[in-house]
Amino acid sequence: MYEKREWLWRSKRRTVSQGECILIIDDEQVLLEGCRQVLEEKGYVTATADNGERGLQLIRELNPDLVLVDLKMPGKSGMEVLQEIESTHPNLVKIVITGYSTVSLAVEAMKKGADDFIPKPFTDDELSMTVEKGLKKRRLILEREALMKEQELIRRNMISLVSHEMRAPLAATIQYLEVILGGMAGDVSQEAKEMIERCVVRLREMLELFGRWLKLATYDPQKSAERFTAVPLTDMAAKVLEMRKPDAQEMKVHLSLEAPQDLPPVMGSRGALEEVLDNLVANAIKYNRQGGWVKVRLLERNQEILVEVADNGIGIPPEHLPRIFDEFYRVDGRRNAPIKGAGLGLAIVKKLVETHGGTIAAESRVGEGSLFRISLPKPQQTKAERTGGWKPV
Ligand SMILES: Nc1ncnc2c1ncn2[C@@H]1O[C@H](COP(=O)(O)OP(=O)(O)OP(=O)(O)O)[C@@H](O)[C@H]1O
Ligand SMILES: [Mg+2]
Repeated sequence: MYEKREWLWRSKRRTVSQGECILIIDDEQVLLEGCRQVLEEKGYVTATADNGERGLQLIRELNPDLVLVDLKMPGKSGMEVLQEIESTHPNLVKIVITGYSTVSLAVEAMKKGADDFIPKPFTDDELSMTVEKGLKKRRLILEREALMKEQELIRRNMISLVSHEMRAPLAATIQYLEVILGGMAGDVSQEAKEMIERCVVRLREMLELFGRWLKLATYDPQKSAERFTAVPLTDMAAKVLEMRKPDAQEMKVHLSLEAPQDLPPVMGSRGALEEVLDNLVANAIKYNRQGGWVKVRLLERNQEILVEVADNGIGIPPEHLPRIFDEFYRVDGRRNAPIKGAGLGLAIVKKLVETHGGTIAAESRVGEGSLFRISLPKPQQTKAERTGGWKPV
């Protein structure tokens, strides 16, 4: 019987180009046959299985769009089937069939990944409506998957374009210009020299931008996490502020650091965490005002370590706040015009913070200032272990 059904399934799959496939798993033959007829009349391709094992086998072989699973079956239970599907085919829409007396089971099934439930006995219309609702969800899932695949393809093409076709000729051009500037290609007038020097500066900026973007696009969080060590944040923050002192002095912005003596270290990459804080401090200085301030505060709260960077600079309008962590996003070109930047810093910050299992949020008021708050998970250890056990690097 199953061979025949599978043959029917396969032949229909071939002929119905967009035919959506529904698998029904139930030990009651009457229900199986009834559902099959109703759904096939609606134009769906169906397959049936009268036990959990067989159902799972058909899922592997046929990759259906939606599965109806009876929760009460002899042998492998509907709940077990559901759990297995959830781990192997998480995007398959799962609807559980329950008896009226087992609604609580349906609730449990929903917690375990079921998308919907239909209580027995149900009418043809109730079945059709529940299936159609489930398939709407399936279409959305497939659309999102296709979009993500397309984005990934664009990203990969962009990476190869930037790293091979753009960086190499740019670097070669800079070298030629430097040869000309060095006088090795004959005399160059002072006026031409100044122009070429400006070209070199702009080309170098472009090369640096490509380098930063490439680093962001090819960043491998897993590799980075493998090299995590205990990082003492207070030392690191002091170093970042020291390095940014010249920029702050130029803007007449006052820098300060506040941290408790016994702040535990966080597990992470020192280089990455330095880059995170440096980007935030650099922003807080450059989007500031003459005589403004930037405060870095480190603190311990419950299971997290907080890193806060506050300033009393120009602030960010509320409508821009949700997008400032996007790649290449800058607030209103004209407002930022005199301030240089590519809109990459905060995208890098977000990615690095998330690699550390942390989160970042921003608050701001135009004309009053901004606050960026990072939350990083605290290593699981006692205070006694902390003072004796850790060997920060
Ligand atoms: N502390 C801040 N105060 C006011 N605006 C800010 C602040 N930090 C970020 N912004 C706004 O968010 C935008 C995005 O910041 P981001 O750091 O990603 O890019 P950028 O500073 O423009 O360039 P990059 O960091 O790549 O050199 C900035 O262009 C700026 O408009
Ligand atoms: Mg920046």
